[in-house]
Amino acid sequence: MPRPPRLRLRKIGILTGGGDCPGLNAAIRAATLAAIGRGWSVQGIPDGFGGLLDGVRLRPLGAGQVRGIAHLGGTILGTTNRLNPLQVPVRRGGGTILEDRGDRVVERARRLGLDAVVAIGGDGTLRIAEALGRRGLRVVGLPKTIDNDLSGTVVTFGFDTAVSTATDALDKLHPTAESHRRVMVVEVMGRHAGWIALHSGIAGGADAILIPEIPFRVEAVARKVLERERRGRGFSIIVAAEGARAVGGGERTRGPAEAGREVRLGGIGDWLASELARETGKEARSLTLGHLQRGGSPTTFDRLLATRLGAAAIRYLEAGRTSVMVGLQPPDVVAVPLREAVARMKAVPAGSDVIQSGRDMGIAFGDEAA
Ligand code: F6P
Repeated sequence: MPRPPRLRLRKIGILTGGGDCPGLNAAIRAATLAAIGRGWSVQGIPDGFGGLLDGVRLRPLGAGQVRGIAHLGGTILGTTNRLNPLQVPVRRGGGTILEDRGDRVVERARRLGLDAVVAIGGDGTLRIAEALGRRGLRVVGLPKTIDNDLSGTVVTFGFDTAVSTATDALDKLHPTAESHRRVMVVEVMGRHAGWIALHSGIAGGADAILIPEIPFRVEAVARKVLERERRGRGFSIIVAAEGARAVGGGERTRGPAEAGREVRLGGIGDWLASELARETGKEARSLTLGHLQRGGSPTTFDRLLATRLGAAAIRYLEAGRTSVMVGLQPPDVVAVPLREAVARMKAVPAGSDVIQSGRDMGIAFGDEAA
């Protein structure tokens, strides 16, 4: 393939979109420092792509604005998973329609003199980036999400920190579960992919792990609890991804979906705890880790990954690569077309050695035959 011509860039914008995660600030810092090191000026775009809609003010970013932020959770630019400029809910004729304001975003970026945009986001934000790229916006994406469900990178930043938080919670729950001889169900995030549940469950010594990729039967989980009981292990710890579902059932949701938004998931933990109490006759409790998993200082791994990806985004832009996402394919950081990165979700593969290893440890996945 012929090499794209090097770009002459003077000014770029950086934004963070979707749910926040640890590592965003490290990525903003890295992209900013790499850009100003090349003599470019950098503007911070508030609250994702919606920040490029009319009326929103950009914030100049220099070394002073990004100093000392690599270890901080959250994002100094703000973020939202509510506003998608390609689907803006507008009241019309007593109802709500979704309006596409993508062209306005591309036009405003041009009027602001932004030669390119670094978009740090999950599947939603990168999908918007891909669509705007096709309409003429120069854009490079960075994969962030605690869910680790993006293709084109073996891991997204934010995931390692979230797994550490969940593993730490499991370590803390073990003694209380054991002391009371209870069943503890821990609900972790993971809408469509069970990476957090799988990795924290194995690292934290869970007895059953339920993930969206493997529909489960309550009886199989109850069998595991009772089998442990017979062996003198009076307690059990179950980790369930929020998107896990029973065979033939659907995901558990909180309230109806709002226009243009994904429905909020949640409730599997409470539901499963009461089902297990009924099936086993044991006392059961549930705990939802929720947004704790998105908080805290990023682990060393996440800081390093976010920094590598942030700096690489600038190198790729300079080399003329746009409409790409930078990703980790060890030992390298690579650029994959945004189109490919958003084409399919990265689910836990059925033949995953991590699942195999879990089964070898005697962990139940809820699909075991009687
Ligand atoms: O995509 C990350 C994620 O943490 C999902 O696992 C979860 O379903 C969702 O965000 C929750 O988002 P919020 O409550 O911020 O709308």
